[in-house]
Amino acid sequence: MTNLDVADAIRRRRMHREFTDDPVPPPLLHRMAWAAARAQQARSGIRNIVIVDDPHIMATARQVLPGFLTNAPAMLVLGTDLVRAEQVLGRRGVEVATRIDVGAACAHLALFGQSVGLGICTITSWAEPAVQTLVELPPHIRADVTIAVGFVTPEPPPAPRGFKTPLHHNRFGTEWEESDD
Ligand SMILES: Cc1cc2nc3c(=O)[nH]c(=O)nc-3n(C[C@H](O)[C@H](O)[C@H](O)COP(=O)(O)O)c2cc1C
Repeated sequence: MTNLDVADAIRRRRMHREFTDDPVPPPLLHRMAWAAARAQQARSGIRNIVIVDDPHIMATARQVLPGFLTNAPAMLVLGTDLVRAEQVLGRRGVEVATRIDVGAACAHLALFGQSVGLGICTITSWAEPAVQTLVELPPHIRADVTIAVGFVTPEPPPAPRGFKTPLHHNRFGTEWEESDD
């Protein structure tokens, strides 16, 4: 485990799609699930995580999930308990809060993975029924995201740069200008 400065981890954060053939030891996968579970969530018991390291399921994932363009040996599947979410958050909670929950968990994984030597790729380009079937999610658990996990190759291809996030100051359309001090 490497102690990383948070700002450093944020700066280095990237998605990985090329991994070594090494399996991820179960305790390390469990640590990743812990990091995802520790992310903020609107209410308890809504987020569900399936930890997948069965090579057969991983091979099928590559076949049935179009966005799963990686040789990762493991993945986490994050799902939302829609029944519980509706009970404790209401309709708007299901629509909005649960999506924020999932994003928070993804952010934790991208940062925490670096401290245990793992790379990840957040993947959502697939049809929900495919993920439901793949890991046998019951109908009340919505498949939200699959996160590929593995050990990064020594010289990974460069990550894309230049994704833009506009910053506005007080009102939308007034550009934030960085001061010199
Ligand atoms: C909501 C979401 C969905 C994504 N879906 C996919 C996907 O289906 N397949 C994939 O390879 N990458 C996917 N990505 C990763 C993005 O393509 C990646 O973050 C982007 O190219 C920027 O690269 P970087 O994260 O390395 O900076 C997804 C990322 C997010 C946040």
